[in-house]
Amino acid sequence: RGKRAFIAGVADDNGYGWAIAKSLAAAGAEILVGTWVPALNIFENSLRRGKFDESRVLPDGSLMEITKIYPLDAVYDCPEDVPEDVKTNKRYAGSANWTVKEAAESVKQDFGTIDILVHSLANGPEVSKPLLETSRNGYLAAVSASSYSFVSLLKHFLPIMNPGGATISLTYIASEKIIPGYGGGMSSAKAALESDTQVLAFEAGRKHNVRVNTISAGPLRSRAAKAIGFIDMMIDYSLENAPLQKELTADEVGNAAAFLSSPLASAITGAVVYVDNGLNAMGVGV
Ligand code: NAI
Repeated sequence: RGKRAFIAGVADDNGYGWAIAKSLAAAGAEILVGTWVPALNIFENSLRRGKFDESRVLPDGSLMEITKIYPLDAVYDCPEDVPEDVKTNKRYAGSANWTVKEAAESVKQDFGTIDILVHSLANGPEVSKPLLETSRNGYLAAVSASSYSFVSLLKHFLPIMNPGGATISLTYIASEKIIPGYGGGMSSAKAALESDTQVLAFEAGRKHNVRVNTISAGPLRSRAAKAIGFIDMMIDYSLENAPLQKELTADEVGNAAAFLSSPLASAITGAVVYVDNGLNAMGVGV
């Protein structure tokens, strides 16, 4: 039987989530995605109209099929958590069952189980502010959307994950080294995500024989990264200073994710795997 993957955080064809979906599809997995509710309509329409067809092409020439798209807002665990203004917001009112618990229940109803869970989402409303100028609410929102969202996804999807399954999230080196410009508590959120990767590897490994790893990815011109505002500078910096002097493609991260979620990586869990042309290994710029 082929593997089934649920990838949370796909809303266009520019980000790491899309590339991971493609690498998993190329390896034979069935693809389900979770798309942020406010981005759902545009994503579904663009997909239907063929706007992504060029980037759906897999190495064998076929097109990646997304079996089902689920609406998701990973900052809410269950319907009781959703504030009234969000519930009645017209970008949300058109969709149903998009809290984490409900999304897991829908996937269970539709497909029974999954093998691979991917968390490719982050949000920090104050990301452009230095940490010293970040509000408590901004900081907590960054951790809620970017770190606890993974704890919650794993908690709710673990019961429907087949033993031997694997989970992947995406992190950034700003968790452990100073990257001025990655503010708003996003550096703190990535540090939490990496620490949780270890604790959750233990808990999910013991409980369900599921592996938990995170990929520390180099800079990519995604929608989210463009919103931060310094992505071109980070790409240039990497080109100049990394051991491998080439622009990082999303596919390279996708392929690493496919490896980590495959039996080839059956003894790897609790790891931060760098997919960044080696930039993390440099001590100084050159
Ligand atoms: P992206 O824009 O393709 O992906 C972020 C996704 O998160 C979007 O689809 C957005 O709709 C979704 N999202 C935001 N809030 C959400 C919520 N509450 N519930 C559900 N979905 C929500 O951008 P990218 O850059 O591919 O981001 C994916 C992951 O990669 C993130 O964790 C990011 O921090 C990480 N990363 C990105 C790097 C880069 O240079 N682009 C470098 C290292 C890590």
